[in-house]
Amino acid sequence: MPNDKINQILAEIAAAKATTPDELEAYRMRFISKKSVVGELFVLMRDVPNEEKREFGQLVNGVKQAAEEKFQALIQALESNTKKTKTSGLDLTLPPGNLPVGGIHPLTATRQRIIEIFERIGFNLSEGPEIEDDWHNFTALNFPENHPAREMQDTFFIEKKPDVALRTHTSSVQVRVMEREKPPIRTLSPGRVFRNEAISARAHCIFHQVEGLYVDENVSFADLKQTLYHFAKEMFGKDTRVRFRPSFFPFTEPSAEIDISCLICGGKGCSICKGSGWVEIGGSGMVDPNVLENCGIDSVKYTGFAFGMGIERIAMLKYQINDLRLFTENDIRFLQQFRPLL
Ligand code: DAH
Repeated sequence: MPNDKINQILAEIAAAKATTPDELEAYRMRFISKKSVVGELFVLMRDVPNEEKREFGQLVNGVKQAAEEKFQALIQALESNTKKTKTSGLDLTLPPGNLPVGGIHPLTATRQRIIEIFERIGFNLSEGPEIEDDWHNFTALNFPENHPAREMQDTFFIEKKPDVALRTHTSSVQVRVMEREKPPIRTLSPGRVFRNEAISARAHCIFHQVEGLYVDENVSFADLKQTLYHFAKEMFGKDTRVRFRPSFFPFTEPSAEIDISCLICGGKGCSICKGSGWVEIGGSGMVDPNVLENCGIDSVKYTGFAFGMGIERIAMLKYQINDLRLFTENDIRFLQQFRPLL
């Protein structure tokens, strides 16, 4: 009978498991402590006849040893288990870590800022297609039949379709808006434009423009100047000066190029403004009466002004970027500089 009990206890010890400190303690109570089943065996020893005592004693000591060895093994297993879970860092109660934050592309940021400035003075947004026809890109805008801008070196024509081209400027959107809306019109049209040019630090075959158009009764050149003064101060700072240089565009009369005082040297002259103190940001003028008529607007009753600016150009001045190619190369070292500060 005592032998049966011993075998049963040995089997129990062999099968014992402890995956938590509580289970380990339960094992200790059952097999190691004074009041454990092993302890009870030593009490039983008293009733064993003398001639069997020695043999029984050896068996009980074996059980005691087995219980202790198993206890050490359980302690070790439990420790290494806890370490594993610690090093894997899996604590599901912790709040999640920060996700990496992206940035806004400098062209997108510039475009948004331009829109914001003009929206506040009553301009809405309008869009037109990037694949245009000759009428909207050239003819309605009063380009003469043999104007050099229609030639192949400037314009990407769609093969075998001489009437279809990638728009060379956002002025085409002016025509579309005037064809479908009646004055008063106050609209801003940002978008991509395409020109057949070699890519360099200063030129690209794909870039962005923003077109502005204001048509109503009594719109004057003074309105154009005030609007662009306002824009330049909002965009580049209140000390920015604006200058209008007489120029020519087929779709405006009179026409003027828009210069702002150089942001880098404040007008003193530096390498960016090539010593002149001024940098060009776009073209502008009073909408040519022919253009109004081409779009079905009465040019006796209505007048209008228009302007077109390069978004890359504005971004380059604002952020002091010196190579146009950086905008499209997606170099992470460049883009990361426009990440919002956390
Ligand atoms: N479309 C012209 C260009 O791409 C820019 C321009 C000049 C737009 C004068 C206008 C304007 O609306 O009035 O160079």
